[in-house]
Amino acid sequence: MSQEALFQEKRNGEDTECCRVGKESVLITLGYSSALLKFESHAGNSFSNTLKRCWNKKKEYSVFSQRTEEASAAQYFQFYGCISQQQNMMQDFVRTATYHRAILQNHVDFRDKIVLDVGCGSGILSFFAVQAGAKRVYAVEASSVAQYAEMLVKNNHLSDKIIVLPGKIEEVSLPEAVDVIISEPIGYMLFNERMLESYLHSKKWLKTNGMMFPTFSDIHLAPFSDEQLYVEHYSRANFWYQQCFYGVNLSSLRGAAVDEYFRQPIVDTFDVRILMARSVKYTVNFMDAEEADLHRVEIPFVFQMVQSGLIHGLAFWFDVAFVGSLVTVWLSTAPTEPLTHWYQVRCLLQTPLFAKEGETLSGKVLFVANKRQSYDIQITALVNQTGFRSGNILDLKNPFFSHTNKTTGHHRSTFLIKRGFSLIL
Ligand SMILES: C[S@@+](CC[C@H](N)C(=O)[O-])C[C@H]1O[C@@H](n2cnc3c(N)ncnc32)[C@H](O)[C@@H]1O
Repeated sequence: MSQEALFQEKRNGEDTECCRVGKESVLITLGYSSALLKFESHAGNSFSNTLKRCWNKKKEYSVFSQRTEEASAAQYFQFYGCISQQQNMMQDFVRTATYHRAILQNHVDFRDKIVLDVGCGSGILSFFAVQAGAKRVYAVEASSVAQYAEMLVKNNHLSDKIIVLPGKIEEVSLPEAVDVIISEPIGYMLFNERMLESYLHSKKWLKTNGMMFPTFSDIHLAPFSDEQLYVEHYSRANFWYQQCFYGVNLSSLRGAAVDEYFRQPIVDTFDVRILMARSVKYTVNFMDAEEADLHRVEIPFVFQMVQSGLIHGLAFWFDVAFVGSLVTVWLSTAPTEPLTHWYQVRCLLQTPLFAKEGETLSGKVLFVANKRQSYDIQITALVNQTGFRSGNILDLKNPFFSHTNKTTGHHRSTFLIKRGFSLIL
């Protein structure tokens, strides 16, 4: 189907309207935005009907807008609208090369197939799918970077194969079902950004027996001991201990400052020797899971301590698997693997727990989704043999980045990216 879409902004407050302009075009107005769609042939008729349905659907509250505060979405898509942020992700060699390998090494799953790329960004994964032999790729992107993806598609002479659809996956309409869905919907601690839900949502376009690339993910957690990190966190809050800061007593806010610092998950990397037990893993299978499964994720744990000492918190990382017909490819963010821009994430306990080798630490981590495209994290932990308890409540939307300029043995951090939310680097 050949069509050309010209998008233009129109500042008015009208409701949704559609009207035909001549024989070959249709103008759709939705609130502040209008789209003039031009068609080259009779094919335009059925296409314009599909589009009208899609835009009318947008008028209703979409799944995305129901679960997201407007301000959060605006900031989020502004972030991803920047070419530099797309570049940052593309330059994460482990990430991009692993996607490339997963797709190309499973070329039989792409050859002559219809593919959907959810959140295509620059369109890089769509290009990989075409390299693997895809017949057609629908590249859906909600941020303004969609226009740049379109430029790359044209400039690479692939307009007949890659169709960029600007809009949210929850709101756009595809003209056909797809064989494979590809996406990179992964945030810090796997779940941040809540884009996994958009990925799962996109399965409404997947044919029965279709494939999801990535296919599943394992999130790992393990207790760690890091006195220095714990003390550093307290020291930051101790600023508020001062009783004469330019003549002002700040000390009444010291408690609130401690609480705030401890609510921040710490994004950085560490030496695996700080881990005090074998990790526990929790699997999210993208083939089976539904969006609602990610609204509340409860991960129970029982750790067998392999060393004695103070437990300062829980460390998290994840692996993602691409299960193809030819090979399964893994993308790992484990502390034993080359560093990625996801680093690892650590959540401190407000009060460290002492445990001896051979004892067990049991409890749970509860992720509760919020409308800021993130999660509130609740940790409860108990040393079974002594009855010592601790815990913490953290805000995944507001992580603490402590990796800048940090040299960690063979893992030399070169990323300058705060993924997903912050424009200030
Ligand atoms: C992590 S980036 C990945 C970009 C590209 N696929 C890549 O691998 O380099 C995620 C992209 O998905 C887009 N996105 C997030 N949620 C979306 C949604 N609900 N619908 C469409 N695009 C979305 C973002 O704007 C962003 O460009």
